[in-house]
Amino acid sequence: MKGLKDKVVIITGAASGIGKATALRFAQEGANIVVADFADGAATVAEVQANGVRAIYVQVNVTDPDSVKGMVDKTIEAFGKVDVLINNAGITKDAMMKKMTKESWDAVINVNLTGVFNCTSAVLPQMLEQKSGVVLTTSSVVGIYGNLGQTNYAATKWGVIGMTKSWAKEMAKNGLRFNCVAPGFIATEMVKKIPEQVLQEKILIKVPAGRLGEPEEIAAAFAFLASDDAKFINGTVLSVDGACTL
Ligand code: CAA
Ligand code: NAI
Repeated sequence: MKGLKDKVVIITGAASGIGKATALRFAQEGANIVVADFADGAATVAEVQANGVRAIYVQVNVTDPDSVKGMVDKTIEAFGKVDVLINNAGITKDAMMKKMTKESWDAVINVNLTGVFNCTSAVLPQMLEQKSGVVLTTSSVVGIYGNLGQTNYAATKWGVIGMTKSWAKEMAKNGLRFNCVAPGFIATEMVKKIPEQVLQEKILIKVPAGRLGEPEEIAAAFAFLASDDAKFINGTVLSVDGACTL
């Protein structure tokens, strides 16, 4: 991929799943990585460093603006710049609408939507000063098409698309790019919470590819969108879902 070598990339939710695979992919492209997660990211850092690039772990809670500011400060202290932010931390708290509590609504909004606002706000001063930067956000097939049991989650994953498009309109002229990746169902801890009967009989049956996606298949999309090969792609959503939305 063109232009990723020596870039500084912050990835939230990089301790596991899609975020971890993305950290490893960018490391293979020669980028330096900030593994930002609420959970322990030491294992991801060790695997990233094995590719001969630099990496640090920063513990962050994306719902807390002070914690997020600390993440960006530590990045600039360690690397002197921020080239790419990948807003990837996310949670589910699924329930049918008739049973969904205000607590589970708030929890998912706070991480998946306000967290994206917090992290993007925090990197913007540096990116605007640099006159360059890429912000990528993990949306979902669920944001575009909805899903049973996911009122809260769907709202956030559709919401980040609107935010991304607005940012592209505001800041393309400043040399910044904003895009989303919308994965289908991917083999991570998040999908393990789906009841097995629902996964087999209601979800996988509708995926023409006939399988879950791999985290590395999402990482590849992020690498492309961050690269110079995508330098005129701004404000868009790239679906990576095995055709499950056709
Ligand atoms: N798609 C289609 N049908 C579904 C469904 C889904 N995602 N989830 C549940 N259903 C169906 C069930 O099969 C069941 O159908 P029948 O009555 O025909 O048996 C009916 O809806 C009611 O389901 P439950 O009996 O399980 O109801 P519940 O109230 O006990 O639980 C639930 C509801 C919490 C939503 C549970 O069914 C569940 O967890 N479903 C999975 C929801 C889901 O798809 N989550 C995705 C998580 S991964 C993710 O979010 C990543 C991403 O971006 C793709
Ligand atoms: P995961 O559960 O493996 O990873 C999520 C990571 O986010 C975890 O490491 C967790 O510690 C971190 N996190 C959660 N809350 C946080 C907070 N407040 N602050 C900092 N970090 C926090 O799940 P997965 O699947 O890798 O999810 C990554 C992203 O991909 C999420 O945004 C998810 O919504 C999205 N996604 C996942 C799909 C899937 O099928 N697995 C499909 C479409 C989108």
